[in-house]
Amino acid sequence: MTLVFASNNEHKIKEINSLLGSSFKLLSLHDININEDIPEEEPTIEGNALSKARFVYNLTGRDVFADDTGLEINSLNGLPGVHSARFAGENKDSSANIEKVLSMLGDTEPREARFRTVIALIIKKKEYLFEGIVTGTITYVKSGVEGFGYDPIFMPDGKHSTFAEMELAEKNTVSHRARAFEKLREFLLNCQ
Ligand code: IMP
Repeated sequence: MTLVFASNNEHKIKEINSLLGSSFKLLSLHDININEDIPEEEPTIEGNALSKARFVYNLTGRDVFADDTGLEINSLNGLPGVHSARFAGENKDSSANIEKVLSMLGDTEPREARFRTVIALIIKKKEYLFEGIVTGTITYVKSGVEGFGYDPIFMPDGKHSTFAEMELAEKNTVSHRARAFEKLREFLLNCQ
């Protein structure tokens, strides 16, 4: 089955290829010659995932999915949430985003947080949503060099390492994105 994944984020494409397995051929936006940035202006994670998938569907008519993720920190009332990518500014600078989170948190305890991914799928003209969540805590300092985004400061529950200290395979055993994609994979395998 061939599907468009509405992203050009190399990290994500790598993660998702390893999550979905060889039954699926993924085409990135580059692969179908869409080189512009898809607007992400909705007030919710669900809204952004859906608007990205609809953007590609309306342009190409192809079966497509898009994902959107937010880091939701309890003591910051769910921030950065839907603003995760641009929390410290329009240039989507991960280091600046992390510094902003750490400085807003200061010594605050507890430091509970969760990553939440929503996938919007448009297939055979119908829309579906899938959600994946991983709970954990925000560390006091950055640790690790793997992954991307907020990985160096997020330690999932039940682990003693941040996501950035894990190999991709270990991150995939618990991650928000892996959980959402498992639901997508099951759905796709059953609807073939
Ligand atoms: P997106 O909507 O999936 O692009 O995610 C929005 C932002 O959330 C990204 O720019 C990252 O800062 C952050 N993010 C998403 N997924 C992850 C992850 O797996 N680890 C760390 N940060 C992430």
